[in-house]
Amino acid sequence: MAYQNLLSEVKENILYVTINREKALNALNKDTLAELADVIAFAAKTDEVRGVILTGAGEKAFVAGADIKEFSDYSGQQGQELAKHGHDLVFNAIENSPKPFIAAINGFALGGGLELAMACHMRIASDNAKLGLPEVTLGLIPGYGGTQRLTQLVGKGKAIEMITTASMITAVDAEKIGLVNYVVPQMDLISKAQEILNVIKQRAPLAVAAAIKSVVASLNETDGYVVEIEEFGKCFETEDFKEGVSAFVEKRRATFIGK
Ligand code: HXC
Repeated sequence: MAYQNLLSEVKENILYVTINREKALNALNKDTLAELADVIAFAAKTDEVRGVILTGAGEKAFVAGADIKEFSDYSGQQGQELAKHGHDLVFNAIENSPKPFIAAINGFALGGGLELAMACHMRIASDNAKLGLPEVTLGLIPGYGGTQRLTQLVGKGKAIEMITTASMITAVDAEKIGLVNYVVPQMDLISKAQEILNVIKQRAPLAVAAAIKSVVASLNETDGYVVEIEEFGKCFETEDFKEGVSAFVEKRRATFIGK
């Protein structure tokens, strides 16, 4: 499979997917999301693939979020569509995949990047990784399932703290609160993910798929995701969103007015 923004290959029944926009810290633009949707569908339907390892190119970032430059002039309606499209094609598609996905978090996992990692079934972080949901610094909220999945993984208190402060946490702290399964030196990241999938490969594929489906079914609060999409869209109608994005692009601190 040849993609513009992804590297992908199947080796010994494991599909390796690398988001490959290193200069933009692997930010998720529309084209990357479309390619991810394609590779996720490939994994689901290809018997040879028994598990997927998803990572980012380079040593600095897994994914630094949705591509801010792409949505900087969106209306509320466009914001909602962006979120809904991503939920349907990528984030829910990973979570509902019959194949186990492991996020190998090789650096910054921020905003949509952490949301992507959280949609995966397991997360392994390198010891230099930093994780966070900084959307409120842009006048937004997480829109790719983050408000729901972070709460599921770490509980309401920590989730609200992380989302409202927008603070990044270290890989070690992420492991303490259950946000990642393991922390390893960067050079061991992929081999740790392989070790887990090599065990799963020996198990019954249909039972593995049934187990994933059952665990995920216990967690999904459909209404919560609908609320998140609506609220995400409304943020685009605020002055603070315009200020937050301008400040990012102009590399300065934002001044918010609450409108
Ligand atoms: C577009 C991005 C980007 C992003 C980084 N870049 N993150 N471009 N979208 N999310 C680009 C920068 O503009 C810059 O390009 C290059 O990548 C390197 O980034 P720097 O900022 O120069 O690197 P550094 O100073 O080391 O800081 C790293 C960083 C910072 C802390 C990760 O880049 C950062 O704060 N990024 C934004 C993180 C964020 O707010 N994510 C949430 C996005 S909203 P140039 O061309 O200047 O070299 C989101 C919503 C999801 O994810 C829901 C959607 C429905």
